[in-house]
Amino acid sequence: MKALVLAGGSGTRLRPITHTSAKQLVPVANKPILFYGLEQIREAGITDVGIIVGDTQDEIEAAVGDGSALGISATYLRQDAPRGLAHAVLTAADWLGDEDFVMFLGDNLIEGGIGHLVEAFERDRPDAQVLLKSVGDPTRFGVADLDGEGAVVGLVEKPADPPSDLALVGVYLFTSAILDAARRIEPSGRGELEITDAIQRLLDDGRRVHASTIDGWWLDTGKKDDLLEANRIVLGSVRRRVEGEVDERSELVGEVVVEPGARILGSTVRGPAVIGARTRIEDAFVGPFTSVAPDCVVERCEVEFSVLLERCVVRDVSRLEGSLLGRDARVVRTERRPAAHRLMLGDHSSVEIS
Ligand code: G1P
Repeated sequence: MKALVLAGGSGTRLRPITHTSAKQLVPVANKPILFYGLEQIREAGITDVGIIVGDTQDEIEAAVGDGSALGISATYLRQDAPRGLAHAVLTAADWLGDEDFVMFLGDNLIEGGIGHLVEAFERDRPDAQVLLKSVGDPTRFGVADLDGEGAVVGLVEKPADPPSDLALVGVYLFTSAILDAARRIEPSGRGELEITDAIQRLLDDGRRVHASTIDGWWLDTGKKDDLLEANRIVLGSVRRRVEGEVDERSELVGEVVVEPGARILGSTVRGPAVIGARTRIEDAFVGPFTSVAPDCVVERCEVEFSVLLERCVVRDVSRLEGSLLGRDARVVRTERRPAAHRLMLGDHSSVEIS
């Protein structure tokens, strides 16, 4: 069995972060989202991993390399443009051959791994096995229609009028029958070859499509609020580890990770929180559910429920909450006159001032 991991796509809903960085590499608890999926694949015993890449290929390759650090062997497969998940499968057709595979969307995070799914698939060997989760707003996802026995009778992508509240989670298992189905579908209204339509084609052909539901959490990290929520949940399982410096004026409360070279000076860090290597937290409060990447400075301010990427500076700001700051971002107070907000924001930035 192989794994096909999708790490192309342009991440439009996470702009401006994704103007300069692949959405699959945005960190959750200071680890790229993509790595969680790759680790779950390896834990399921699959090491032959094809990674679909697009414009951000160089960045993805720089992060994952040959995969050996993660215990996998990575092969990069270039998709010419983000033309849909079924198009990604067709892009990988030669590499997949006629092997069964698990397809994992590189911006999805699921609780509990995929080992049990792979086992169920190998035992029953349907042509497709999908994973479903009851969600509040199914119109944002692919949605499954089940009959009274729980068998899948139909699948529809982002329906205006959803047949159920069961969204398709971004983890699928397939036999090579999906390749033939993907070749026989047309682009959807959004101009993409949808995997949902390819699976519907399998159903129309009378092939077996199994579904299981997950009770644990599932996070599609495509948007800021989803990403902060993913960060909150993943931080919920970190355990205290202090390798950096914490001075005697500082207090760490609960599950806090302080990476090597980080310095906590005159500050309180209330977990769960992670403080990246070489970051300095000084005369500050870093509150629960916050991830601060390496090489940041957080000084004379309060930050809670936020994600700061590498080399951010936050200084003399009364309180940041629910915030996502990209690499090298600066949020600082100034005494310059006239007193005013002075902003230099990338395209698609968003600022809320209280
Ligand atoms: C894709 C799939 C959708 C699925 C979702 C899960 O949507 O097309 O069926 O529910 O991933 O994350 P996209 O993220 O491409 O909008």
